[in-house]
Amino acid sequence: MAIRRILPDAHGAFAFTEANVAFANAVIAKYPEGRKASAVVPLLWRAQEQNGGWVSEPVVRYIANMLGLSYIRVYEIATFYTMFNLKPVGEHLLQVCTTTPCWLRGSDAVVAACKKHIAPTQQTVSSDGKLSWMEVECLGACVNAPVVQVAADFYEDLDGASTERLIADLRDGKMPKPGPQIDRLNSAPVGGATTLKEGV
Ligand code: FES
Repeated sequence: MAIRRILPDAHGAFAFTEANVAFANAVIAKYPEGRKASAVVPLLWRAQEQNGGWVSEPVVRYIANMLGLSYIRVYEIATFYTMFNLKPVGEHLLQVCTTTPCWLRGSDAVVAACKKHIAPTQQTVSSDGKLSWMEVECLGACVNAPVVQVAADFYEDLDGASTERLIADLRDGKMPKPGPQIDRLNSAPVGGATTLKEGV
């Protein structure tokens, strides 16, 4: 695991929109008096969404003030959980699983496509600002390895060519159909059922 630090951004500013203030108040109200700190993860998550996909120093300070916490406590949480991005990301962030099952099934080709068509190094925004990519640990969809997560969608059974198509579609503003990118229903065998076929 690499050292995780928030990109210094001393001059930036952040404040929740009115709708997100209402969201934050509703989350905080779920916890007993004196336990507002428990709302820190959902508030950071909502702030990340509002802040273009990453948690900046002003975000951390804003959430710390809102919850009455010291800045360092919120900083620790933002830097511990890899769900929080600590530097700017593209409009679409490709989270590429490279853990063993995905690696055995060809995640090197997925990474190569990202390097070629997004940026040579991970966590770097492409020159058009539209895309970035990063390696992540197991996404819990190993049966459909290799897997890439984009926002809440999983793209599965990828190879180099299908990853290139995915990148091109995202760049063009299309939202490709998530799920397996080969002839496969969910995690059923490729090409259809191979067992228990009688009576079907
Ligand atoms: S190893 Fe990639 S999804 Fe589990």
